[in-house]
Amino acid sequence: MPGRIPQTFIDEIVTRSDVVEIIGSRITLKKAGREFKACCPFHSEKTPSFWVSPEKQFYHCFGCGAHGTVVGFLMQYEKLEFPEAIAALAERAGLELPREAQDTQRSGSVDLYDVMSSATRFFEQNLKDHERAREYLAHRGIDVATAQTFALGYATDSWNALLNRFGAHDEERRRLLQAGLIIERDSKGAERQAGFYDRFRDRLMFPIRDGRGRVLAFGGRIIDAGEPKYLNSPETPLFHKGRELYGLYEARQARADFKRLLIVEGYMDVVRLHQAGITFAVATLGTATTQEHLNKIFRITSEVVFCFDGDRAGRQAAWRALENALPLARDGRELKFMFLPEGQDPDTLIAADGREKFEARLLTAMPMSEYLLSHLSQQADLAHVDGRAKLAALARPLFLRMPEGIYRELLADRLAAEIRMPAAKLKELLLAGAPRPVSQDPAPRMRRASMSVGRGNLLTQAIGLVLHYPSAARAVVRPEQLDAVDTPGAPVLRELLAQARDTATPSTAVILERWRERPEFSRLTDLAGETPLVADAKAAVSELQMAIEKIAEAHGPGQRVNELLRKAQEQSLNFDEKTELSNLLRAKGRPAKPA
Ligand code: UTP
Ligand code: MN
Repeated sequence: MPGRIPQTFIDEIVTRSDVVEIIGSRITLKKAGREFKACCPFHSEKTPSFWVSPEKQFYHCFGCGAHGTVVGFLMQYEKLEFPEAIAALAERAGLELPREAQDTQRSGSVDLYDVMSSATRFFEQNLKDHERAREYLAHRGIDVATAQTFALGYATDSWNALLNRFGAHDEERRRLLQAGLIIERDSKGAERQAGFYDRFRDRLMFPIRDGRGRVLAFGGRIIDAGEPKYLNSPETPLFHKGRELYGLYEARQARADFKRLLIVEGYMDVVRLHQAGITFAVATLGTATTQEHLNKIFRITSEVVFCFDGDRAGRQAAWRALENALPLARDGRELKFMFLPEGQDPDTLIAADGREKFEARLLTAMPMSEYLLSHLSQQADLAHVDGRAKLAALARPLFLRMPEGIYRELLADRLAAEIRMPAAKLKELLLAGAPRPVSQDPAPRMRRASMSVGRGNLLTQAIGLVLHYPSAARAVVRPEQLDAVDTPGAPVLRELLAQARDTATPSTAVILERWRERPEFSRLTDLAGETPLVADAKAAVSELQMAIEKIAEAHGPGQRVNELLRKAQEQSLNFDEKTELSNLLRAKGRPAKPA
């Protein structure tokens, strides 16, 4: 796993990269006043509504709403993940990634990647050499080109083919073992000799690759019949099953302009769909879809369609996927469910129906809220009051896992209609006495996030001003008068002011990138994309100063604290005043009332 990239390095990369240059080398930009414009690369349009600001180091499309920093642009345009975008910019700027951002256990991991890459080539060659494997592939309807795209291979029916080829020395065997390619023989049985044997035997091999195309693991399907049908690499330093998605690399390579990603259950499904032109399918590795998977996916696209087999196991998997997805059901994201006819999987269905019919079916996928309700309704008899109360009770824990937003509202409305209760009343019931979750679960973080930045009020305006004119924020005097303000959003404003002050050359982009991992990031990015309140930095200084004074006055713990703070700065406080001030501040520091 790559380590964290230090914030100072990200600051430097963003400072050194020019958003105009990076975007301008990919699409044609035209100068327009102090900014640049173009036809938006993220939606189709004839007249330009895509603007790039050299000053803010920020882009914004008034048509589709796409916006962000140079890092965000690369992620969106090149479909890169954050560390990859940083690496690309670093390379361009001629900077070397700091040690901690390179792969941990660097030498060890590099070795393991090499081992996996050699094994992949070995298996690929086997596939060419063994008719049994070629025939199986043909029988499954996979052509040679597709096999190549996915680097499919064959592990021969041998206990030591791989071992003999790559494991001559102790050191090599240790690495094969670490890579999960061989297994150590249980030497306790005295008659058996200590030693190793190949993990994968007589199997069609599916390499599982990371975002950069490096092979991390294998899934191996038994040729013909046998147990287990699929064997996966064990967890290794490179491979963590709950994180990877089979086919994601290949999907991105296909340069498909994803509107959506399709999550299917099997390796074979991904490969077969890809061959049929549905290049945006990925599969989990025999596990449920985790939030980590979904986070990865939502960085690439905003629509996910879960596709499940129509059998019992498929329906169970679908429900688990829904439960995991709930906390990520945010505005602007679409989660859908598609159920295949009993006895079919995408592999058999695409063979029977072809691409067009499959795509048509895809468009009829069920929105998450609908699936949720229909699933719960089956467990309650809605003809009776009791049944309807049961439905509400079943829905409540699910409802509470969702972040605030349109999605949740929509669900409440639908639910209210089902149980014939006014929506407002139902929402009250659903939220009544809800404990503030304290888990690691992203749900509560997000719930707070959507409140803590505040809305179209003074605070939001102040935050917007800092984002648009971070250098102006450096000129603010007495920012500490905000210290006693405890309205939602105040901590964000304080932190932004501090960041603007502590950064040598703060730009909108540099500041924003500090927040990327935080729940407030998307709200702040939105604000940065809005039209500034004032036209220049000079006006921003006085606006911001005024806003801060007003906020402190309106939300602070009364005039008294302000008076005391002012006095503390201008003269000094006597003992009583100090005590009073610290009491006032302590009172404010108490946790806010539970919502
Ligand atoms: P399926 O049994 O649905 O396989 O398992 P499939 O993809 O349709 O395979 P074919 O068509 O019979 O070849 C779906 C996924 O579950 C995991 C694998 O990731 C597989 O792709 N699985 C399945 C295992 O890990 N082990 C198994 O024994 C079976
Ligand atoms: Mn199948």
